[in-house]
Amino acid sequence: MEHNYLTPNFAFAPMIPKHALGSRVWDIEDQEYIDLSGGIAVNALGHCHPELVRVLQEQSQKVWHISNIYTSQPAQELAEKLVKNSFADKVFFANSGAEANEAALKLARKHAKDHFGSQKNEIISCVNSFHGRTLFTVSVGGQPKYSQDFAPLPAGIRHVPFNDIQALQEAVNENTCAVIMEPIQGESGVLPVQKEYAQAARDLCHKFQAALIFDEVQTGMGRTGRLFAHEHFGVLPDIMTSAKALGCGIPIGAMLCTQHYAESFTPGSHGSTFGGNLLACAVGSRAFDLINAPETLRHVEKQGEELRKKLTALGEKTGVFQQVRGMGLLIGCVLSEKYQGQAGKLVQLALQEKLMVLQAGTNVLRLAPSLLLNDEDMNEGLIRLERALKAFQAA
Ligand SMILES: Cc1ncc(COP(=O)(O)O)c(C=O)c1O
Repeated sequence: MEHNYLTPNFAFAPMIPKHALGSRVWDIEDQEYIDLSGGIAVNALGHCHPELVRVLQEQSQKVWHISNIYTSQPAQELAEKLVKNSFADKVFFANSGAEANEAALKLARKHAKDHFGSQKNEIISCVNSFHGRTLFTVSVGGQPKYSQDFAPLPAGIRHVPFNDIQALQEAVNENTCAVIMEPIQGESGVLPVQKEYAQAARDLCHKFQAALIFDEVQTGMGRTGRLFAHEHFGVLPDIMTSAKALGCGIPIGAMLCTQHYAESFTPGSHGSTFGGNLLACAVGSRAFDLINAPETLRHVEKQGEELRKKLTALGEKTGVFQQVRGMGLLIGCVLSEKYQGQAGKLVQLALQEKLMVLQAGTNVLRLAPSLLLNDEDMNEGLIRLERALKAFQAA
């Protein structure tokens, strides 16, 4: 590539993909890669799943966009599936995870103002959390490196240490309008929430009439072996967000909420030009059926266990990983003391071995492959990873 016409906020890898199928990707030089990154937990059904290609082609011949002056069959169909398979009564469609979270946070503020007055506006979030890149969501996210250059930031946001119940109890009060958390902190290291912490947040939100928001942008849509990760610990939110795997590669985000909260989103109070786009909703609706099938969720659990077991063995053999954690097919391999801070380097070396993986922070190698990952692709990926680990140790 002679010229890169894009702004330099991404450090692009030295490989340009041309086409992809399932868990394999080919670059413009026709070299084949195993993809265990899943487009950062997006390509839940692998690349170019034939059923999704069919639905996309079919919808593309009918109507693409009609504006939110009208509703549509695909949007209603997908929303109905989300509602019937979750705690929620209503759905707002956006185009990304950040926009879904933006909607969730705005709804929590408006709901609190409508019912209790404008002083009830404080949002409690977790240190090291990640909720997106809009100004509001980087501010709510608990990683100052993403927000500090964009001050002044929105006010009324406090951060507490993740999984620290006492800190949460000290932070939540009558001025709290929302507590937001990821069921597994994805970007900062694949760190699961403790059930007791989620339950404490639920109890505090009940006590102080604040919204409990679960950000399931990365953990939702089958990623952990359940449709949504919070099902593992049985605590229900008032508001939840989804994106990434919801469209399996077509941009879509969703904010789900109970009827009580939905009522504050009165006509004109929030909106989106593209949210509920027919192409995205049609693909999302079919993807929902395929992901929510019991055999898919069982496969995620089985392959997740197998992959974690093999990664643990690889970690013991090489000494590069001190821990392998995560749920289903969202997996974090924590680098041993000796290799702390070098996850980025390992990701680059893996790419040289034709393996696509991710980092989560600087100390964790993250895998978020297709939920349909088969044994052959898993095993070939692990062979390549072992080669990358050897190169990493030798470097
Ligand atoms: C938990 C979580 N929330 C929100 C986002 C932001 O989603 P998007 O990049 O689609 O705006 C991400 C993206 O990585 C995420 O992992």
